[in-house]
Amino acid sequence: MIIFKNATSLTGKTFDLEIPSTEDNVIDATGLTAMPAVIDPHVHFRTPGMEYKEDWTTASPAAINGGCTTVFDMPNTLPPTVTEALLVEKKAIIDAQLNEIGIPLRYQLFFGADKSHLDQLAEVKDQVVGIKVFMGCSTGNLVIDDDESLHAVFSLAAKLDMLVAVHAEDEEMMAERKEKYFDATSYACHSTIRNVDVAVVAVKKAISLAKEYGARLYILHVSSAEEIALIKAAKLDGVKVFAETTPHHLFFNTTMYDTHQGRCVVNPALRDPSHHAAIVAGIHEGVIDTIGSDHAPHTKEEKDQAYGQCPSGMPGIEFMLPMLLNAHHQGIFSLAEVAALTCMNARQIFGVEDTKDWVLVDLNKTKTVDSTASKCGWSPYMGLTLTGWPVYTILRNTVFTL
Ligand code: DOR
Ligand code: ZN
Repeated sequence: MIIFKNATSLTGKTFDLEIPSTEDNVIDATGLTAMPAVIDPHVHFRTPGMEYKEDWTTASPAAINGGCTTVFDMPNTLPPTVTEALLVEKKAIIDAQLNEIGIPLRYQLFFGADKSHLDQLAEVKDQVVGIKVFMGCSTGNLVIDDDESLHAVFSLAAKLDMLVAVHAEDEEMMAERKEKYFDATSYACHSTIRNVDVAVVAVKKAISLAKEYGARLYILHVSSAEEIALIKAAKLDGVKVFAETTPHHLFFNTTMYDTHQGRCVVNPALRDPSHHAAIVAGIHEGVIDTIGSDHAPHTKEEKDQAYGQCPSGMPGIEFMLPMLLNAHHQGIFSLAEVAALTCMNARQIFGVEDTKDWVLVDLNKTKTVDSTASKCGWSPYMGLTLTGWPVYTILRNTVFTL
């Protein structure tokens, strides 16, 4: 048995955290707070096909560093995860990579909705955490941009009792705006082209489909006050809708283009600073249920290309919890809110049992981000000095000292 002596619980009580083990060890946990380990419901670990950006041997240590022991991986890989055969193949590759690194990270996969493979949904129903629908194009070529297919997906999802996770950006509107700003050369134009309206139109459509068919809807990376207002109203209306935000939409904004250029190009795009308060309020009010890192690494060389060539996405899993703990330190969120956002609500929404995985955090530790375990080798959080850091992550009774 490994005992973390004098740990502090989320409610501030002192207790001994006991971890079943063949090893006998007592670790002084005075001053450390025990939180449930992070469930990151939204990652792109790039396997298969884009392992030059990231793979599970590098992403898993990044997850552990961030106090995370469970991830849900997205299907926009090469090839995309759109058939049962591809799903089975992807799991085998992931398992081999996890085996190689000796980190038995917990994971589930999202299945990609694809017009020509909708028959596959019934086949994979019990093997995936949900269906991912790209309502607008992002990285890769998965997209469902016609109403007929969208209706088919929501209707099938309701029948099969599968959760639908949407990347809510309206493809038609985005295409029009790309045309209008065809000569855009500055990275900041990304936020003008993929503006709030583009997200709002898609969120409205997704909510109305969920309502019509009675499907469970999970809206990924909610980034604006307007989307939050729509989701709040839908929840009050009894629609089965859940909302996720990301650390970058919560903590970053359009002023970042000046310093981070292509590195902060992401879909949905960063918003102007006025949305920050609405996202914080959305979390306080329980309109936003979860936070997903949307860990989407690309190489430095890819990200440093000119606007138009530079792909969207940034890594995030390693520093999501430190950013939230730092926000707790600043008085923005309670610890209970951080635990709800990073674990408890995801358990409920996705039906995940209590894994008894833990992260012990030092709320008073201050450190500057100076390195990353991600294969991409860069982070938008680099150089930030944060207070509140994970020091032990416990996965399947194995203690990782950070
Ligand atoms: O910025 C993004 N990057 N948004 C997405 O929807 C996909 C992701 C990626 O896979 O690179
Ligand atoms: Zn994503």
